[in-house]
Amino acid sequence: MFESLQKATLDKIFVLMAEYAADPRTDKIDLGVGVYKDPRNNTPIMSAVKKAEQRILDAAGTKTYKGVVGNKEFSSAVVDLALAGTVDAARIRCVNGAGGTGALMILMHVLGRARPGGRIYISDPSWPNHLPLAENANLTPATYPYFDPQTRAVDFDAMMRVIDGLGSDDIVLLHGCCHNPTGANLTPAQWDSVAESLQRTGAFPLIDLAYLGFGEGIDEDAYGTRKVAASVPESMIAFSASKNFGLYRERAGVAIAIAADAASADVVSSQMQNVIRGTISQTPDHGAEIVRVILEDEALRAEWAAELTEMRERMKRLRVKLAEAIRRKSNAKDFDFIAEHSGMFSLLGLPPDAVQKLKADDAVYMINDSRINVAGIPEDRVEQLAEYLVRAAG
Ligand code: LMR
Repeated sequence: MFESLQKATLDKIFVLMAEYAADPRTDKIDLGVGVYKDPRNNTPIMSAVKKAEQRILDAAGTKTYKGVVGNKEFSSAVVDLALAGTVDAARIRCVNGAGGTGALMILMHVLGRARPGGRIYISDPSWPNHLPLAENANLTPATYPYFDPQTRAVDFDAMMRVIDGLGSDDIVLLHGCCHNPTGANLTPAQWDSVAESLQRTGAFPLIDLAYLGFGEGIDEDAYGTRKVAASVPESMIAFSASKNFGLYRERAGVAIAIAADAASADVVSSQMQNVIRGTISQTPDHGAEIVRVILEDEALRAEWAAELTEMRERMKRLRVKLAEAIRRKSNAKDFDFIAEHSGMFSLLGLPPDAVQKLKADDAVYMINDSRINVAGIPEDRVEQLAEYLVRAAG
């Protein structure tokens, strides 16, 4: 049986994570996989999460099935957080996903059933997993321009030339905030134009909302998602609690479908449930329940929001520090964009051989497209890292 198989390509992000773990050098720097790091280079469990887990443990009396839609209270709390009442609840249906990726998987499968082989337009570049997710769901990936390597900002005119030309059979995958991998994001005015374009063409938006609260704040980061969802009759949102609640391995996410009316929403819901039952049967609940407990409790929610703010502020501070250190060393503004980007990532624009050299010579790990996770910047070694980067940029 297995002789007919060829070795599959593994995602470069997780290949790099394993390489980093195996590197014995003690001064290694991990700017690879997108996980938050505190000043001691740990990915901590948030204190609100610890407290919620304790409450769950104390109150738990069963591990029986929740049902195919999962934890409904978790879903509604997430819908409130992401959409803040901008869309009539009668048009919204949710199921839990196994993380944000699980939510994307469910939503894309439903879209693949609605439009077998249909085109899904993905930003160039994008998170590498978007492509296999789309292909596995019987969708045909296409791209729209997104990033200008010269200015290191969004190439909005080029993006809109493609978006404006789409039709009502097309799907557009948008990063709700904190674009991965570039770190370059749409302004509110640009989101308004995107929403207006989708309204006009009827192209269908699927929004990947994996980093809500990591950019400028919950409401600021949700601007585009809310604007688009409020402007068009049908849309979908994949929400992840991996980053903003630090629940990576618990796989907590929500697949949100917004239909034109309640009857159509029920049909979409039945399709989402059918996908879950036919793939993983039920989604995990532990992470979902943690988020529910936090969001439904005023004190825990405030504690979580304060921790999230601290994480966001730290990432912003690291951006500024690195950009300033590079500027001091190179006497050029070439890397100032690091401080202007937002979210967890920036695409540095280094060639692959420079990325390889940084890994081999300096034990600095970043994705081979030169994406860095800014949370991995060691605060006490910013000068040294800046020196390495200036040297690598030649
Ligand atoms: C990343 O882009 O590094 C994270 O989203 C982790 C992942 O699943 O790829």
